[in-house]
Amino acid sequence: MSMASDESSTRLSRRQLFQGGGVAALAGSTRAFGMPAAETARRPAHIEIILNGERVARHIDTRTTLLDFLREQIGATGTKKGCDHGQCGACTVLIDGRPMLSCLTLAAGLRGDVTTIEGLNDGDRLHPMQQAFIDHDAFQCGYCTPGQILSATALAHSDAPLDENSVREAMSGNLCRCAAYPKILAAVIDGATTIRQG
Ligand code: FES
Ligand code: FES
Repeated sequence: MSMASDESSTRLSRRQLFQGGGVAALAGSTRAFGMPAAETARRPAHIEIILNGERVARHIDTRTTLLDFLREQIGATGTKKGCDHGQCGACTVLIDGRPMLSCLTLAAGLRGDVTTIEGLNDGDRLHPMQQAFIDHDAFQCGYCTPGQILSATALAHSDAPLDENSVREAMSGNLCRCAAYPKILAAVIDGATTIRQG
């Protein structure tokens, strides 16, 4: 009996917290920026970026992540939404050649050129890293593959070593739920070697 009443009092206090303290805290945080909550939420921003070599311009909500901007406003759905919390790497894009998590990047604050998986191939010719993933059959469902390929491309253009342990470490931010890791590893080493040989 005492356990049940303890639980209900815990639930009650949590509910009270969210109904009372939580709302008050949110109201306080928007006041801290000197504007009402509704205005904070709806502020539009003009964004102009170079995406896969082409200039794109849009008006967006300031809260829009680069991932949602790419998928929902541009239609570049090759960039995948996995966790949406910076934990899986599925949303990886290149910004000025560096791998970045687009789910953690605000589109409105973006500086630099963005490359997504749609921008890697040269017409009908696949990028060497795309070709390496095909040659090594380095995917099953393919959901993680665009992010894997972009991270691997950045690795190929760095001066990081290409031994297995170094590549595993460099690619550790890209998870594969199908556990295709052995083939991904082989593809990354092969693709990066090809790229470095020019
Ligand atoms: S969707 Fe961005 S890290 Fe998972
Ligand atoms: S191939 Fe399915 S998540 Fe990697």
